[in-house]
Amino acid sequence: MDELKLDLRDFHRIVFFTGAGLSAESGIPTYRGHGGVWAEYNYEDFACQQAFLRDPEKVWDFHDKRRAKVAACEPNAGHRAIAEVQRTKPETVIITQNIDGLHQRAGATNVIELHGSLWRVRCEDEDLVVPNDQVPIEPRRCTCGAYWRPDIVWFGDMLDPGNIERAIRALQKCDLLISVGTSGVVYPAADLPRIAMESGATTIEINLEDTRVSRLYQHRIRHAASAALAALTETPIC
Ligand code: APR
Repeated sequence: MDELKLDLRDFHRIVFFTGAGLSAESGIPTYRGHGGVWAEYNYEDFACQQAFLRDPEKVWDFHDKRRAKVAACEPNAGHRAIAEVQRTKPETVIITQNIDGLHQRAGATNVIELHGSLWRVRCEDEDLVVPNDQVPIEPRRCTCGAYWRPDIVWFGDMLDPGNIERAIRALQKCDLLISVGTSGVVYPAADLPRIAMESGATTIEINLEDTRVSRLYQHRIRHAASAALAALTETPIC
């Protein structure tokens, strides 16, 4: 972290934008690359509306497995460092692509979950969304008889326009954007640093490696998320 001398006390409206790399150190696999979810599972069979309509039981088996995996994991030093920044600077906003709920379990609030949550289900027939932390989920059907659907943004789904709007508003107001552990390949990951930059914010990317969107960030930290965040925020790692 020697390459970046930056004092968080100089910033007042911080936005963290997080991806699967943040939760990797908690033991949750990322999506892409070696050991990634999409290297093992074809999303067309497990993570899109067509797959769900074709075979909801198979899609639920996959999501039950993911729920079990995440439930057995704990937030790591990176999640805790972000929550601590938010505690001392209440205007801090967290925009995440993660569906694991680990930010909230680390004590964070004001989390914009762009891709939904593993821990909510939706009945599309009744237009109903409810929290659900059962592992495995039982029953898989709502009282109306329709299958619950994970409240997750699958491939081909629209993002919630309200969430996009909140995210854009936070980025337009922020003075520092810190992106952590995202490959930046999924919309709107590439747009977020642009919005922050246009608003005059300082932008930092934390990732183990260069990504397709690295060039959009002013500063790049090539370390594991937890160590980089702990150093940046000066919170203890354990
Ligand atoms: N510290 C920092 N970065 C890390 C770490 C780590 N310990 N481990 C992995 N990374 C980085 C990888 O280098 C990679 O760039 O995290 C990134 C993970 O990328 P993806 O697997 O593509 O995850 P993400 O960007 O969150 O994916 C976006 O794609 O399939 C969809 O909906 C899914 O939300 C997901 C979206």
